[in-house]
Amino acid sequence: MKKRRGLRLLLSYIRRYKKYIVVPTVFGAASALLSVGFSLLLRALINGAVSGVAPKALLMLGAWVLLAIVLQTLLSAASEWMGAKLRISVTNEIKADMFSKISGAEYRAQGAFHSGDLMTRIGRDVPHVTSFLLDALPLMFTLSVQFLASLIVLFMLDRIMCTIALAAGPLLLLMSVFFGRKIRGLQKNVMKKEGEQTGFLQEALQNMTLIRAFSMQGHHEKKLYALQEEYKEAVLARTKVSLLSKCMLGLLSWAAYIAAFSWAVFRLYNKTIGFGDVTAFLQLSAGVRDPLTGMAPIYAAMLTALTSIERMEEILLLEEEEKGKKPTDGTFLQIRGENLYFSYTPEKPVLDNLSFCIQKGTFLGICGPSGQGKTTLLYLLLGLLKPQRGTLVWEGEQSIPISAATRSLFSYVPQGNTLFSGTVRENVLFGEEKTEKEIEAALSCACALDFVKKLPQGVDTVIGEKGVGLSEGQAQRIAIARAILRGKDILLLDEAASALDEATEKALVQNIKAYYKEKTVIWITHRKSIAALCDAVLEV
Ligand SMILES: Nc1ncnc2c1ncn2[C@@H]1O[C@H](COP(=O)(O)OP(=O)(O)O)[C@@H](O)[C@H]1O
Ligand SMILES: [Mg+2]
Repeated sequence: MKKRRGLRLLLSYIRRYKKYIVVPTVFGAASALLSVGFSLLLRALINGAVSGVAPKALLMLGAWVLLAIVLQTLLSAASEWMGAKLRISVTNEIKADMFSKISGAEYRAQGAFHSGDLMTRIGRDVPHVTSFLLDALPLMFTLSVQFLASLIVLFMLDRIMCTIALAAGPLLLLMSVFFGRKIRGLQKNVMKKEGEQTGFLQEALQNMTLIRAFSMQGHHEKKLYALQEEYKEAVLARTKVSLLSKCMLGLLSWAAYIAAFSWAVFRLYNKTIGFGDVTAFLQLSAGVRDPLTGMAPIYAAMLTALTSIERMEEILLLEEEEKGKKPTDGTFLQIRGENLYFSYTPEKPVLDNLSFCIQKGTFLGICGPSGQGKTTLLYLLLGLLKPQRGTLVWEGEQSIPISAATRSLFSYVPQGNTLFSGTVRENVLFGEEKTEKEIEAALSCACALDFVKKLPQGVDTVIGEKGVGLSEGQAQRIAIARAILRGKDILLLDEAASALDEATEKALVQNIKAYYKEKTVIWITHRKSIAALCDAVLEV
């Protein structure tokens, strides 16, 4: 079932990129026809030389041969250039599709995938499919053209030679299919082991400080070594079979060559053909034989592409997030939650029968022990998660259920460090277009302007991955400035000041209260002193 679906997707890609696939196919077919023509030209040239035709005619033939060589070279260069161009375009397009599916998928379904796994699916599986579409598939057509053209010409020149060239065909084809299948299974294992190693490396590199602080370098090196050994074994197992396949196919190919060679020599001995015919016979019989041997890697590429496409399909078929309705009139009055129930697992609800009403202009504190569901509540407000029971609505002139569409009415400061590598400015702007003054105002409101000004290049100072180069509290304040700059009606802060001292958190609350007089702020905090500054407190 899964396989059939994978095949359907592969076919839909073939349909979608047929214009792209045609290009290398036409180039390849032209090159194959040219090589058959080349054999015939060479035959005429040699036979002509042996039988002593006029030098002028020989020169003419020689010029044709040269022209064929130049054309062949040009064709192969053009085809390589076009191939590279198309391959990168198609790969980019499919990768962008995958990215867009992931970012538009239902939040929990997307969250079920490890980021390392998603990386492998985008980074490794997509190129397998592109390579099948733009290399293997055109090659299959090219080889078919080469096979048919060589077969027809050989048939016209010498039927027995044609039969000899074809004799090894069924066995070559059978072996190709047999080895192709075997290699696919082993290739699947190679990809799995590679994914495991990448995932391990990714996590270890991200947590290098922790590894060093716990002096666990040795332990991790050992783990990496073990994973590398497994990967090595998988690669060697695949290489063994592909080598065996190459040797067997090679031997069979040699046997067919010797048979063709013997027949050609026999006819030459009987003087029924000339030297030129021998060359042409051998080249043309290779033109019949080689496409059959060449089917093995093509078949393997198709099976690999099918494996990859099944993995990509799991992403492409992810349920899309429901968009919902956006208020047409933006005047916000309140958010109302009634009897909300949410549970990640059926046994243990995180939020049960929670009701609240957050009016415009309120500075609401959310308090409660860790693991109680505060972050979950913000995810519900952002429409990332949906309450399984109860009502959660945004109310203005209209009453609109909270969904992905209402998300744009909120600014959000997540828990933890969520900065990107780049400058402070890029982090605060996060894709928005704002003036210098607005950036400074946001930084100032977030109690960040003073320290940002003291950075070597001010707002243009480059910070590393996850805010390397800043303290946790500084990174939090940049994240707050980023949310403030968005200037939405409702600001959500999830323990956004957890790394700040109490005095700074208080100053921050005062700033935001002044800045957001008309707006609504929802502040998750553990500090009782901060809760005391809020207009209302919701205990979760
Ligand atoms: N993706 C998830 N899958 C299953 N359980 C989860 C998930 N995220 C959070 N939880 C559980 O839900 C509870 C509430 O989590 P959270 O809202 O993050 O708590 P808080 O923000 O109050 O510390 C926790 O007990 C946590 O274990
Ligand atoms: Mg939390």
